[in-house]
This record gives sequence, C-alpha cells and structure tokens, in this order.
Amino acid sequence: MSERQVSYRYGRIEDNKAISELGALVFLSSFGSSLPHDDLKTYLSEAYSPMSIATDLRDPSVTFVVAIRDETLVGFLQLRRGTSERCIDERTNKIQLQRLYVSESCQGLGIGKRLLAEAEREARAMGATSIWLASWKPNIKAERIYESNGYAKAGEMSFMLGDSKLVDWVMIKSL
Ligand SMILES: CC(C)(COP(=O)(O)OP(=O)(O)OC[C@H]1O[C@@H](n2cnc3c(N)ncnc32)[C@H](O)[C@@H]1OP(=O)(O)O)[C@@H](O)C(=O)NCCC(=O)NCCS
Repeated sequence: MSERQVSYRYGRIEDNKAISELGALVFLSSFGSSLPHDDLKTYLSEAYSPMSIATDLRDPSVTFVVAIRDETLVGFLQLRRGTSERCIDERTNKIQLQRLYVSESCQGLGIGKRLLAEAEREARAMGATSIWLASWKPNIKAERIYESNGYAKAGEMSFMLGDSKLVDWVMIKSL
C-alpha cells in the first residue's frame, strides 16, 4: 500500500459515524492501556460519539480534513478557531490542530505527515499566522513528529479525562 492511493477532502456531516469510530478506536489502541477504564469509557462516549462529532462537523469554527483510501476513511484532522492556552495567549491569529488520527493499519505510510501539511495549508488559507496543538506528554511518537515538522514547546496545559488529570505539551509553529 502506498500513500499515493490516498485522497484528501473536507469532512462532511455524513462522515460523522466513520470519524467517531476511527477516533475512538485509535484513541483506545494508542492510549487505552495507560488510562483507567471508567475514565476512558466516559471520555469516548462523550467526545467520540457520532452525535458529538456531528456537532463538531456543523460548528462553523471547526474544519475537518479526511483521508480516504478504497472509499474508507483512514485518517482525519480537526482544526478549531478561537481557542487558546495561557502560555500562548500573546500569539494572535492562531488556529488549533485539535485532532490528528490515522487508522492503525495505515500508520507509518506518510498519511499523518500529509494531514499535518494539509492542516498548515488550511490554517494559512484562513489567515492564521501560527498553528498550535496540545500533545499528551507520554505520546513521544507524536511529539517527535511535531518537533521534526517545526513545532516548538511553549508550555504545558492540563486536561481532565474523566477523573484523570492528563498533562499535555502545548506546541506552536509560525506559519
Ligand atoms: C501520530 C499519527 C497521526 C502519525 O500518523 P502516521 O500516518 O502514522 O505518520 P507518518 O507515516 O506520516 O509518519 C510521520 C513520521 O513519524 C514516523 N513514524 C511513523 N510511524 C512510526 C512509529 N511507529 N514509531 C516511530 N516513528 C514513526 C515516520 O517515520 C515519519 O517520520 P519522518 O517525518 O522522519 O519521515 C498516528 O500515528 C496516530 O494516529 N497516532 C495515534 C493518535 C495520535 O497520537 N495522534 C496525535 C496526537 S492527538
């Protein structure tokens, strides 16, 4: 399989079920063993339900780009305008890369990197001068990908997943 067989387009409302399934599955397989079962269950049912993803897809401050291979959704990114964290408050005109997920069977093929490039292209087209994200500290793989693509740590933020407090790196890149 090659990355060339993958096409990219904006997410549509009817993608909600596929995005919700892919997001929940990848989240579970990537982070599930490190988090308490009950917290995971609550988080996934709230953040990754088809209804919650449909709400995001309808939100005018949110943009999704999806990766399609053999008519199957194999990856997606979610951008959100209007968000910030204390350590990057002084940076104006920024946009958040809120989610970046590639299905397990398609990881390592360049799809994540291409989606990251799409996120930056979209952000620039929207007039943003920087793009930021929060990356869970133990997720060293993602941190390396972001650093090798020009994202720098600006500080930390914490995030409640059920009753578990997770600490993320806040990373930002000038566009
Ligand atoms: C992080 C993620 C989006 C990357 O997508 P991907 O399609 O696997 O990444 P790519 O194939 O484009 O590879 C990007 C880089 O990571 C490297 N990489 C790929 N798989 C790797 C692995 N298993 N271990 C270490 N590095 C790896 C690649 O060599 C490439 O490096 P390069 O830029 O030096 O060539 C994907 O692994 C994923 O969905 N992970 C789970 C969810 C997640 O962590 N999301 C991001 C934070 S929310």
